[in-house]
Parts: sequence; structure tokens; C-alpha cells
Amino acid sequence: MRLTILGGGGFRVPLVYGALLGDHAEGRVTEVTLHDTDPDRLRAVTGVLAEQATGVPDAPAVHATTDLDEALRGADFVFSAIRVGGLAGRAADERVALAEGVLGQETVGAGGIAYGLRTVPVAVDIARRVKRLAPDAWVINFTNPAGLVTEAMSRHLGDRVIGICDSPVGLGRRVARVLGADPGEAWIDYVGLNHLGWLRGLRVNGRDELPRLLADEKLLGSFEEGRLFGPDWLRSLGAIPNEYLHYYYFNRETVHAYQEAERTRGAFLLDQQAAFYSDPSYASWDRTRAEREATYMAHNREASGAGERDAADLEESGGYEKVALALMRAIARDERATLILNVRGRGALPSLDDDDAVVEIPCLVDANGAHPVSVAPLPGHATGLVSSVKAVEREVLEAAEGGSRATAVRAFALHPLVDSVTVARRLLEGYTAAHPGLAYLAR
Ligand code: G6P
Ligand code: MN
Repeated sequence: MRLTILGGGGFRVPLVYGALLGDHAEGRVTEVTLHDTDPDRLRAVTGVLAEQATGVPDAPAVHATTDLDEALRGADFVFSAIRVGGLAGRAADERVALAEGVLGQETVGAGGIAYGLRTVPVAVDIARRVKRLAPDAWVINFTNPAGLVTEAMSRHLGDRVIGICDSPVGLGRRVARVLGADPGEAWIDYVGLNHLGWLRGLRVNGRDELPRLLADEKLLGSFEEGRLFGPDWLRSLGAIPNEYLHYYYFNRETVHAYQEAERTRGAFLLDQQAAFYSDPSYASWDRTRAEREATYMAHNREASGAGERDAADLEESGGYEKVALALMRAIARDERATLILNVRGRGALPSLDDDDAVVEIPCLVDANGAHPVSVAPLPGHATGLVSSVKAVEREVLEAAEGGSRATAVRAFALHPLVDSVTVARRLLEGYTAAHPGLAYLAR
């Protein structure tokens, strides 16, 4: 089986390859093609993969190319993990927003919109090529903002593109752990949009265990989201939000903490990764990875007093390659699995009546793809947020398609975390000045 990884020179590719190396079963991936626009990054990552494969007799063969069409032709699965504009682009997304006094973050708020405006045209081009060159391939999209980018690609590939994120499964695992439940046995009632979802229940043997957690102050204080949001707010909500909802519920505090920080996350990673790519090896990759995980959401944790990450979280983090592999296996070998994925909702989430809207929802996966499971509606406040953010995503898709500045301003202005139309206009000015990739917004 042939797997193509777009963004193949990316820092997380060794995680995916490491997971492939552990798979010795029939029907496993035997060939990996890495595609990247940057030959130096490709070389660096190919070297790390070669070190990883030492001594593994059935290690998948690795090819690398900068030719996109060549990479796609004949692929069975395509992992799309690109970063348009690189980490310098991410740092600019964060900086421009913070300078306007609004959240500067990779996927949420103004930063996420800027990233989406840059990425959607590139993702659509990829989708068109996949359709032409590998029409039977399944595309697994990791590219952020994952929900929006998956929806853009689904307009060309239908249900053959599936978006993934590691945060819902990570949340489910943490909640199961504090409840003493086996995450593999529990039904995790989690739904929303990517980075905008809520865990509303965790059922073991048909019994919802979440009320037991919400009633127990000590248990609530013993895991990441409990400390991040605080027991009182979790009780008020009656659910455990995705960690990215901290940017909504504690927006002022986060914006302030991010403005005070010496560097944004993107700027930190830019330095960190430059050091790795200038002298790449497996050992330096592994060190860099550990530091990256340990400092994940550090500013947010500081702002909320949540402290260090749990040792168990650090051990288990990097879950996204596991989600990708579980998904690929379920499809390729018809090994049925239940996974929380980004797919067209088809009415499975009653709060969104548009069948084509991509939502993050539990899915049954088999050889025919990912089938969303019908879930209970979200409460009004969550439906409100999901609808607002979906409307913003639709403006981004329209702007990306038509190149209209007025539409792009609408995307910024309608976002719940952008508090003024004047600010929205200045954001668009700032982002078009910072990103050559936004020059298409000219109408
Ligand atoms: C989580 C999210 C990803 C995001 C990543 C950022 O894994 O689910 O969508 O890309 O965090 O981590 P970073 O180390 O790049 O800040
Ligand atoms: Mn994610």
C-alpha cells in the first residue's frame, strides 16, 4: 500500500513514520512518498526516517519528491499536513492580531482566519489534483485550520477527505483516566467543530460517568482541562470543553498573557525548528519534539494557573499519528473503529442543518469511509458559537474562491473574538501586508 505525505519535510513526519514502523500486519503501508516544496526540509526529514528504519527489516521504503503530481499519482492514501507560509507565516498570524488587541493564535479567531485564507486555495488545488491523479485515494487532512480546510477539500472530494485532530481523543483519554475508566471501552460523547467542541458525557456500560466527575472537586482539579477552566466553570457548563475553548471563555486573560509573552508560539517554534533543520538527526529531532510537547499551551496554562503538563499527558501526547493510522487501517482493512473525525455532518448534529457542513463528531469507520453517528443537539450557547464560527468559515471559503476583500473583512468582523468592524478592516490590511500569499484578495 502506498502512502503519500504532503508537507513531507514537516517536523511531525517522523511520528507518522514511527507509527508505520510498528505495523507488521498484512495490508500495511509498504511505500511512503514524501512531498514538500522545500528540498532541504525533505532531505532533513528523510535522514531522520532512515535512522528510524535502521534494523527494521520490513520498514516502508521512503521516496522524496518536490513534484506534487508525481507524489500523488497512484497513492492509496494521502496525508495532507502542509503549512502554507511556514512557521514565519504562523508567527505573523499571531503578531498582527495581537497588535490589534485580539487573539493571535494558529487556528482560533483572527489568526485562524488569516491562516485559512492562505491555506484554502492551496488545499483546493491539491484536492483537484487528487481527483485527477488518484481518484480512488483517501485523503486524511491534518492541515490546520483542519475543519475549514477539510470542508474546502470536501467540495471537490466529497467524503473521500476526512479531517483529523488529536485534541478530542486526548480530552476523552484524560477524562476517562481521572474516572478510572478504560478509554478503549468508553463511549465519548464529544461534538462540535474542530477546536470548538464539548465532551458532554462518557459512558461506560451504558452509564454516564461524567456527572461523577463534575460533582468531585478533587477529581476536577486533577487533570488539564479541570485546571485550565476551573471546577466552577465546568460545573456551570455541565460539560468539558476542548482546551481551545479557553480562548473564548477566558479571552481577555489569554490575549493579555500572549501580549505580555516574550515570543508567540509561532516565533518560538520558528527558532526551535530552525536549529533542528540546520543540523538534523534523530537525536536532535527527539529532543526538539520533547521540548515542543512540554511547552504546548504554556502561556495558556500560565494565564489560568494550571501549571505544568501531567507526565501521563506528555507520554501519551503526539496522538495525531495514532488517529491517522487507526483511520487508515479501518478503511484499508475494514477493521471497524469508532473515531472522532471531521466529516460532512449529514444532519448527524441536529444543531447544524446544512448536510455539507464539516463537523467534528464520532464516526463509525469501515472500508466505505467514515459515517457520522447521530448525536444529541448541543445546548443553545454552544449551538450559537458553532453557528457563528461556521458562518465565518463560509465567508473564508467564499473569499478564497472569489478574491473579494469585502468578503474577507466580513469573515474577520463576524468572528465572535473580533470586537469591531474597524479592527477587522485593519486586520485584513495587516495580514495582506505580511503575507504575499494573500495578494489574491484584490477585488
Ligand atoms: C494540537 C492541535 C493541533 C495543533 C497543535 C499545535 O495537537 O490539535 O491542531 O497544530 O496542537 O501544537 P504546536 O506545538 O504546533 O503549538
Ligand atoms: Mn488540532
